[in-house]
Amino acid sequence: MSTALPTIAILGAGKVGSSIARSAVAAGYEVRIAGSSAVEEIALTAEILMPGAKPSTAAQAVDGADIVILAVPLHKYRSIDPSGMSGKIVIDTMNHWVPVNGEMDELTSDPRSSSEIIADYFPGARMVKSLNHIGYHELEEDAHTGRAIAYATDDEAAGEVVATLIKDFGFDPINIGALANGRILEPGQPAFGAHLTKDSDLGLAALKN
Ligand SMILES: NC(=O)c1ccc[n+]([C@@H]2O[C@H](COP(=O)([O-])OP(=O)(O)OC[C@H]3O[C@@H](n4cnc5c(N)ncnc54)[C@H](OP(=O)(O)O)[C@@H]3O)[C@@H](O)[C@H]2O)c1
Repeated sequence: MSTALPTIAILGAGKVGSSIARSAVAAGYEVRIAGSSAVEEIALTAEILMPGAKPSTAAQAVDGADIVILAVPLHKYRSIDPSGMSGKIVIDTMNHWVPVNGEMDELTSDPRSSSEIIADYFPGARMVKSLNHIGYHELEEDAHTGRAIAYATDDEAAGEVVATLIKDFGFDPINIGALANGRILEPGQPAFGAHLTKDSDLGLAALKN
């Protein structure tokens, strides 16, 4: 049986995308990264900022990937082509960050977590909320320091793959259960930006009441 690590497609070659790319390459994952425009536009950035990650079109990256990481500004998620995502593990790192995204009525008028709302746009995707509640620079700075990263998903097997990825990035994974629980990782919540450890109380008990 092959023990090859999953291949990762990162959509969004900005601060979060490039930082995840570096962590993933360092951990031995094969990484393809796509920006909003032509491959040539990010080729130099990729070579300098994320050596080892392969610049690609979004379609090519997604096609060959086991894990797709959404790292675009939330208000731009509909500029991603959802076809080809069905059956893939999709990690939603995106936050509703009003200064950048503006007010998004579709989120504020819907009581669900932002990842559940986003998931409607990616039918069949095995959606996991994670990597959103830690600053992009901390992904490298705080690796192997005992800091934890949480994840939420309705797909247990996908969660296990993401837990391994979090460990491979040098963090302790915290399984917070269903995708709906991802709301406790959103901006404004105590866990957002907090230096969590594996024993941190994320307020899950209150959420279930
Ligand atoms: N900054 C943080 O510390 C942090 C931490 C955790 C999570 N997040 C979340 O992570 C996401 C990315 O944040 P960021 O700070 O990395 O933003 P960023 O630096 O602005 O990077 C986002 C990148 O996504 C690209 N993009 C837009 N539409 C795209 C598409 N359809 N396909 C591929 N690429 C596309 C943008 O390109 P153009 O500029 O050409 O549009 C830009 O390069 C956001 O949702 C944010 O809320 C941020």
